Amino acid sequence: MTLKLNSSSQAAFTSRREPQRSPIGIFDSGVGGLTVLRELYRQLPNESVIYFADTARLPYGMRSAAEILQFGFEILSWMVQQDVKMVVMACNTSDALALETLRSEFELPILGLILPSARAAVVQGRRLGVIATPATAASNAYKKAIVEIVPSAQVWQVGCPEFVPLVEQNRLQDPYTSEVARQYLEPLLKQRIDTLIYGCTHYPHLEPILREILPATVSCVNPAVHVVAAAARELDLVGLNNTLGVRPTRFCVSGCPQEFARTSRQWLGCTPIVEKINLPTLSCRSLPLSSVE
Ligand code: DGL
Repeated sequence: MTLKLNSSSQAAFTSRREPQRSPIGIFDSGVGGLTVLRELYRQLPNESVIYFADTARLPYGMRSAAEILQFGFEILSWMVQQDVKMVVMACNTSDALALETLRSEFELPILGLILPSARAAVVQGRRLGVIATPATAASNAYKKAIVEIVPSAQVWQVGCPEFVPLVEQNRLQDPYTSEVARQYLEPLLKQRIDTLIYGCTHYPHLEPILREILPATVSCVNPAVHVVAAAARELDLVGLNNTLGVRPTRFCVSGCPQEFARTSRQWLGCTPIVEKINLPTLSCRSLPLSSVE
């Protein structure tokens, strides 16, 4: 459970006497991962968490695969330094574009949202709509995962470039946001979907708006629920459940801490203390150096 590239991190991890006490690392580009954090508080209340939001570089959904891989590599390297025992990637874009490569770079468990959500979605329906960032939609990651489980399932994906900035700007009640949502959902409703997957962790924050537009017969899949259930199973499997007392969540951002604290308080029920972090600048060995700025 160590970063292969860094022997001092390896030593730190293996020498720990109580690895189950280590926090779970959760990361996203911004406040989207709070939908996963909230679910983690519900399903795994005894676990401590380090939450990292890469707010200086959001939105991720318009970035290239090389950038997403590089960002993921930097964040995971930092998280290993913080002694996390597991990472929950609370970002579909990172999962779609970089999960497999990052798993080959690090030895600690790294959980993604897409596979557990695809498994849950095919239990709910066969005409599946996915709303996601442009990068996730273009990657076809959801469609591939679903069709691999149920080849006859029908999947329609829509990239929604405006949603993440609207959520980060806290424009949840804005009539403009409703209008944009109506436009994004229209092609899916035309296909008479029975199930809608929130293919970006920011989107459950828009649930009140989305539910107003969706017919009651359409059920929604919130990947946060399923990735945390997968994390719970993984902790059982590796015997790393924390039974030793939970620590307060540490919130860290690459951008403005005050802004993150202001936006996130509505979902956390309190104003968090937020630290600004300068991530280490490292090169991912799976990435040709020329593709990194
Ligand atoms: N919330 C993330 C996701 O699930 C990233 C969104 C973004 O920054 O564009 O894809």
